[in-house]
Amino acid sequence: MSQPRSFPYEFESQKEILFYPKKPEIFSGDILEIGPGRGDWILEMASRSPEKKFVALEMGTQRYLKLISQIEKNKRANILLIKGDARIVIPQFFCENSFEKIVVMFPDPWPKKRHQFRRLLTVEFLALLAHVLKKGGLFTLATDSAEYIDSVRQNLKQVKELVIPEKNPSDSPPFPGYLPTYFEKKWKSEGRKIFYLTTVKN
Ligand SMILES: C[S@@+](CC[C@H](N)C(=O)[O-])C[C@H]1O[C@@H](n2cnc3c(N)ncnc32)[C@H](O)[C@@H]1O
Repeated sequence: MSQPRSFPYEFESQKEILFYPKKPEIFSGDILEIGPGRGDWILEMASRSPEKKFVALEMGTQRYLKLISQIEKNKRANILLIKGDARIVIPQFFCENSFEKIVVMFPDPWPKKRHQFRRLLTVEFLALLAHVLKKGGLFTLATDSAEYIDSVRQNLKQVKELVIPEKNPSDSPPFPGYLPTYFEKKWKSEGRKIFYLTTVKN
């Protein structure tokens, strides 16, 4: 019988982690976005809340380089951009109770059964997010995959620190002032249904 596959950390951990504008001495932040892609969401949110410190964690090299030019063009001083895999970067650099909000919008859904071991939002990763969230902090997921959101709901049953509030409609924006991302606009324009899930750290 074949063994369940696990994420290849050895390979990812050998890749260089990069920082823009520079590697900070103390790692801190208010809002963490994992997988910003083109960065529309974080650039706009950071411009609306200049008093907040944003961290964008992106593993794609080309996306990281494009994000640097966007941050420079928009003159945004309140974004720390990190190139690396969230599964490697978060435990290495961020402490317990760091963020008030963590967002993962339109993570790669890996719909094929044989690829699902690559999905980001495993029980272990959700527990890691719970660890770095402040008490009362929010973790928000948006996706167009009903199956993915169901799997995250299942995984959350094993992460007691992250609680799904009773009033948590999956079809309306997860918090006041929420903005749609690039992928969200794209999928909506194609008529796809979007699902949201927000949890609170107890
Ligand atoms: C489908 S795109 C979504 C981009 C954006 N959030 C949006 O909604 O428009 C997923 C993004 O997550 C990034 N990503 C995937 N896995 C990651 C990981 N483990 N750590 C950091 N970034 C990751 C990908 O490189 C890609 O930019």
